[in-house]
Amino acid sequence: MTAMNLRKVKIKGTGNYLPKKVLTNFDLEKMIDTNDQWIYERTGIKARRVSSTEGGEFPTDMAEKATWKALEMAGMEPNDIDMILFATCSPDYQLPNCASVLQQKLGMTNNCTALDIQAACTGFVYGTNMANSFIQTGMAKNVLVVGSEMLSTKVDWTDRTSCILFGDGCGVAIYGAADEGESSEILATTLGADGTGAEFFSQPVGGSAEPINHHHLDENLQFMRMKGREMFKVATRTLAESAKKVLTDAGLTMDELDWVVPHQANVRIIETTAKLLGMSLDKWIINIENYGNTSAATVPIAFHEAIMDGRIKRGQTVLFDSFGAGLTYGATLLRY
Ligand code: ACO
Repeated sequence: MTAMNLRKVKIKGTGNYLPKKVLTNFDLEKMIDTNDQWIYERTGIKARRVSSTEGGEFPTDMAEKATWKALEMAGMEPNDIDMILFATCSPDYQLPNCASVLQQKLGMTNNCTALDIQAACTGFVYGTNMANSFIQTGMAKNVLVVGSEMLSTKVDWTDRTSCILFGDGCGVAIYGAADEGESSEILATTLGADGTGAEFFSQPVGGSAEPINHHHLDENLQFMRMKGREMFKVATRTLAESAKKVLTDAGLTMDELDWVVPHQANVRIIETTAKLLGMSLDKWIINIENYGNTSAATVPIAFHEAIMDGRIKRGQTVLFDSFGAGLTYGATLLRY
């Protein structure tokens, strides 16, 4: 297929869902040796949400609730979706995948393609860029991309260096072909990974290489482990490089960019990246204060919030920019 007959891809609808339970820094003070001031100054986080373990707020539950909002915005029915790409590193089950569970929860009867993406925090951007390719080439019509995480089950709540950072939540977007003459479209995409940094952020126990056993449980080894300083350096470098690449590929300047929706891992990472790019922070959508790092969900949660409160408007240029364990990274530049 030549570039001549590639379809333009736009966002048709978005949605999000945040668990009801709020866990503040002051709550954490009662659980571990930390304090609100340390957490806020180092990370910009004040609170995070935690899913109910009783059910109703597992990753596919949150995705279902967020998807109904997106479908309403798009004026679509569940069966209008012909592909689900579900980005998560905290799935409901090992098997089946979340995308298939979500398909069933939405009452879909079209047996659409249903695939999970494990690219950690970059998962939603991976899904977006893959959706773009499938729709551009005519292999899919409407793709639901989900970022949904319940990291509260992956966090070692006794490890003060990491548990303060993470939260639960979900954001989604529905992508489809733009109509003739519409200005909304995905302008440029980039994805990458550098496996040499795999050890900086990992959960080595519980997979095939190291099935979980009593020793792991006794020693609290079953949770996520992070080298925060190393992650910080890689994050700022890759976020800045991905941003520059998509802007160059689309032939846009930094000044022509209206909004950046970055992965919300640490507000210091966002500030440092903005500085590296020579941008002021007023174009950056930042909500980490309320939700912490919800991995694959941060970008779509923040994006939907900014649409709903009127900051991001149709016709404006928006950059999704993310990085995560792997180390994965990627960006999407679009005209909303
Ligand atoms: N409360 C109080 N003190 C603490 C806490 C805490 N919660 N955590 C660590 N400290 C202490 C440390 O023990 C250390 O004390 P010491 O100097 O006596 O040894 C001191 O504070 C400084 O610790 P550092 O780890 O050096 O703190 P740093 O400034 O690097 O901040 C942080 C740590 C916030 C984790 C930072 O490195 C960071 O945000 N890194 C990036 C994390 C990231 O991007 N994660 C995303 C991974 S990918 C994904 O998104 C899924």
